[in-house]
Amino acid sequence: MPPKYSLPPLPYDYNALEPVISRQIMELHHQKHHQAYVTNLNAALDAQASALDHNNITQLISIQQKLKFNGGGHINHSLFWRNLAPYDSPATKVDGAAPTLKAAIEEQWDGSFEKFTQAFGAVLLGLQGSGWGWLVSSGKKGLLEIVTTKDQDPVTEMIPVLGVDMWEHAYYLQYLNNKASYVENIWKVINWEEAEHRYLNGVEGLATMKL
Ligand SMILES: [Fe+2]
Repeated sequence: MPPKYSLPPLPYDYNALEPVISRQIMELHHQKHHQAYVTNLNAALDAQASALDHNNITQLISIQQKLKFNGGGHINHSLFWRNLAPYDSPATKVDGAAPTLKAAIEEQWDGSFEKFTQAFGAVLLGLQGSGWGWLVSSGKKGLLEIVTTKDQDPVTEMIPVLGVDMWEHAYYLQYLNNKASYVENIWKVINWEEAEHRYLNGVEGLATMKL
């Protein structure tokens, strides 16, 4: 039997990110959207096991997109919840929470953390349709880069240090069409402790997520 995945609990209360992200958004996003990715991932894995049992290559091929979309959705949201921390908590203060990562960011973005946040924000706002913006690292303490992925494609072969969900379901109930305001405010609830941990530990850091 393929492994069954389950919805990981949020590492904070549903209202912990207010006023940046409302309780209503967090409840729907976690309990409905993320749960749907988990449910559909498990269904796709069952269907894949059945197709393998029956040597049904046509069915096997048809399942791959569902696996990618829902598996990616589960991975991305599991990363995202941990990329966020309660409003005004110590983890949201980059100076104390991520000294190594901050220094690396400054080294790569002309000595300026603000240049990085501006560049990251511009990439997020330039994303067309649904997708994700990521700060990725080439490995432990590796080279940093800002990338995007479409739909629910996960980051592969790089370390996803920091990801931001740019699907409308992540902000629309609160920010409506003001995507720029969502992008501006998200910095207030970024969990820099988690980002530092992933930057220092690479894939071993991700393994602690127990997906
Ligand atoms: Fe989402």
